[in-house]
Amino acid sequence: MDSPHTKKKHKPKSIFLYFSFFLFFIFFFCSSNHSFYSSLPSSPITLPIPLHVHHRILFPDHLLLMLSNPKIIPSTQLHCVYHHTLLNASSNPLLLPLLSTDRYDEFRSIARCPLPPTNFSAVDLTWRRQVNHRDVQFPVRAKPHNWEKLAYEAFLDNNTVVVFVKGLNLRPHRVSDATLYQCHFGLPNGAFRLTAKAVSAAQEVVRCALPQSIWNSPDKGRGISVSVSDVRGGGVIPSVARIGRFEKQGRVKVKEKKFELCACTMVWNQAGALREWVMYHAWVGVERWFIYDNNSDDEIEAVVRELEEEGYNISRVTWPWVKSQEAGFSHCVLKAKEECKWVGLYDVDEFFYLNQMQQRNGLRSIVANFSSWNNSVAEIRTGCHSFGASGLTTHPKRGVGVGYTCRLRSPERHKSMVRPDLVDLSLLNVVHHFEVREGFESRNLPLSVAVINHYKYQVWERFKMKFLRRVATYVVDWKEEVNIGSKDRAPGLGTQPIEPPDWRFRFCEIWDTRLKDFLLSNFSNPQTSLLPWETSSQ
Ligand SMILES: *[C@@H]1O[C@H](CO)[C@@H](O)[C@H](O)[C@H]1NC(C)=O
Ligand SMILES: *[C@@H]1O[C@H](CO)[C@@H](O)[C@H](O)[C@H]1NC(C)=O
Ligand SMILES: *[C@@H]1O[C@H](CO)[C@@H](O)[C@H](O)[C@H]1NC(C)=O
Ligand SMILES: *[C@@H]1O[C@H](CO)[C@@H](O)[C@H](O)[C@H]1NC(C)=O
Ligand SMILES: *[C@@H]1O[C@H](CO)[C@@H](O)[C@H](O)[C@H]1NC(C)=O
Ligand SMILES: *[C@@H]1O[C@H](CO)[C@@H](O)[C@H](O)[C@H]1NC(C)=O
Ligand SMILES: *[C@@H]1O[C@H](CO)[C@@H](O)[C@H](O)[C@H]1NC(C)=O
Ligand SMILES: *[C@@H]1O[C@H](CO)[C@@H](O)[C@H](O)[C@H]1NC(C)=O
Repeated sequence: MDSPHTKKKHKPKSIFLYFSFFLFFIFFFCSSNHSFYSSLPSSPITLPIPLHVHHRILFPDHLLLMLSNPKIIPSTQLHCVYHHTLLNASSNPLLLPLLSTDRYDEFRSIARCPLPPTNFSAVDLTWRRQVNHRDVQFPVRAKPHNWEKLAYEAFLDNNTVVVFVKGLNLRPHRVSDATLYQCHFGLPNGAFRLTAKAVSAAQEVVRCALPQSIWNSPDKGRGISVSVSDVRGGGVIPSVARIGRFEKQGRVKVKEKKFELCACTMVWNQAGALREWVMYHAWVGVERWFIYDNNSDDEIEAVVRELEEEGYNISRVTWPWVKSQEAGFSHCVLKAKEECKWVGLYDVDEFFYLNQMQQRNGLRSIVANFSSWNNSVAEIRTGCHSFGASGLTTHPKRGVGVGYTCRLRSPERHKSMVRPDLVDLSLLNVVHHFEVREGFESRNLPLSVAVINHYKYQVWERFKMKFLRRVATYVVDWKEEVNIGSKDRAPGLGTQPIEPPDWRFRFCEIWDTRLKDFLLSNFSNPQTSLLPWETSSQ
């Protein structure tokens, strides 16, 4: 995120070159010692910087490794190493390419490896150039963590720490009894030595009181590992969660005054949709963006960097956790709390349309008006109109806003904007709706004020991808033959990813060209007639 190009854009070229060269050096000395040395033809093999794999987490379709190297190592420089379960450590290990590497937090980076093939177990990493098998001698005994039972994230929030945990099996959609849970604190990889009470518990989120000793000197608390147990038994849940500090990313500055309106979204391979979504909503008044990236392997990082260079206050947050959308939203609300008065939680295929207020910063004025005249409103809900493929067969090149124009008559569902300081302590949320603190309330915006155009049923090629990969934790998989008829499915679609013959005009009850007309007459460039998110090559 912290690209030198961003900062040095307007400086003379020579300084820029000098700076790049300097960074080039830093890069080699800090992150890839090994390849620097081994690429010199006659130099002796010098040991690369050590790779410390701290944790392995077994997901259904890959293995996540947490490295205690905070800097990302390019995945092309590493191998995943698998040991045969029957043969000795001295026998040749299997080496496979990584799926990806990514940054993670202030202490760690992550790497993703393919699942171990049959008869191979625990996975390690090695530098690619060090394929000399003698050097891959560390037989790993550590068993990977089971993803169904793991404390995976922790977030310091005032005098509490919020722990994200799988395996307590708390009831969905409601607040649980916090007195049944206890919190444990200890050194990373060491024993848990301190306990404290849980102050709230709901779904996958337990809020813990901080032990007095950590509370007294928060600096010593940094890096401490934290977990949760059920007082009725079962022991302390294994943990990869560590207490960190809110890490400012990119060049977003700490503001004395909070942003009025921010947005959180969770994406997987939606790089192509991000520009239109961000640029349009910045115009209606969103000032700050948190993009929770769930294992994308498209160009999302580059798109986020581009937007950042263009002046948008945007951060990508690595959220590698599988089936944890609700937890991700709770996490984002905590992240937004320091910077934002209001935060909207919605998807990149959802676009606000404001009727009478469809003007620059219109949405910001609407939320600001709520905070100024009625301080008891903690959540504002906006109804969604679901759009269909609108007769199209291929993805609209100019964007969804001008492309899709036919929808269902009645709105379905709502999306929320919330005050992060006024959501319930439990951070309970159900498909984007937050429980608000007692004494505060949720308001629905009348449809005459605002609606969300939800480009939900896009051309078949797009729709298929989306539904082959459902995200929310408590929404059953589309492919499973249960819960047919649920609103989360496309009505009448069944369970096969085969295009229904009438897909193009399904969900097409009324034509609604309001956003399209608005964009074409107010957003397109008078000379080129391009929309701001279109590139001239398209
Ligand atoms: C492992 O190696 C030892 C000696 O190096 C040998 O005695 C033993 O049979 C080997 N075990 C297997 C399972 O190959
Ligand atoms: C795995 O090991 C078992 C037991 O030795 C063997 O029967 C099986 O063929 C092995 N499978 C593969 C895919 O190597
Ligand atoms: C932080 O915790 C203290 C002590 O419980 C409380 O008085 C204060 O209001 C809290 N601050 C915020 C911003 O929640
Ligand atoms: C980014 O944040 C700064 C303040 O930190 C603000 O002045 C600016 O308007 C924001 N940019 C956008 C595009 O909202
Ligand atoms: C994240 O991605 C994985 C696959 O990599 C998927 O199984 C999971 O449901 C996704 N989770 C969320 C919250 O989107
Ligand atoms: C702010 O809210 C009040 C009360 O609903 C309303 O009368 C007023 O028109 C609103 N102003 C704006 C700019 O929306
Ligand atoms: C704010 O809204 C609540 C609920 O609608 C109402 O009871 C209260 O009187 C309102 N306050 C003001 C200042 O309008
Ligand atoms: C913006 O678009 C609307 C159509 O939605 C049009 O009536 C209006 O004149 C446009 N405004 C400008 C400044 O072009």
